[in-house]
Amino acid sequence: MKLRRADIAFFILIPVVVLCLWLLTTEQTTVRIPLDDDHQESLQVYTTDGKKAAERVCRSCHGAEALPLSDGHPPEYRCVFCHKPSSPGTITGEKDIP
Ligand code: HEC
Ligand code: HEC
Repeated sequence: MKLRRADIAFFILIPVVVLCLWLLTTEQTTVRIPLDDDHQESLQVYTTDGKKAAERVCRSCHGAEALPLSDGHPPEYRCVFCHKPSSPGTITGEKDIP
């Protein structure tokens, strides 16, 4: 059987869909970014400069020798895809942490 362009597209699509589903499901259960003093700066950058800028701030503490992620931690690029700020809808802490 000859592989048609549509077949190849299909085989690319499957892993993409699986990855999206996986990201969506991890998002719901993953521990949120705490609203403590350590995280005020990154949460501020998150609002003003966006996710990528915030993730650079994350790495200034996490992943360094002082504060390594656990051995079983999933692939760590794009922190805030998985770790959302503590209160949904707000990141400044004026609402209760759920
Ligand atoms: C693919 C999803 C994903 C990404 C991306 C991700 N994490 Fe995690 N993280 C998790 C999961 C799952 C856990 C396990 C704890 C839980 O939520 O049950 C975890 C746990 C942690 C913990 C708790 C301690 C530990 O190591 O288990 C910290 C701190 C943490 N992540 C920080 C980060 C930082 C900083 C980044 C970006 C550099 C990041 N994470 C990116 C999913 C993710
Ligand atoms: C100023 C240093 C610093 C920065 C910047 C920082 N963190 Fe942390 N983070 C800590 C420390 C210290 C802890 C452990 C104590 C605690 O829970 O507050 C921690 C804990 C965590 C935890 C685990 C909370 C729990 O309940 O176990 C997560 C998740 C996390 N950080 C994610 C992030 C993400 C995502 C970013 C970037 C948006 C980030 N942190 C930026 C210092 C920092």
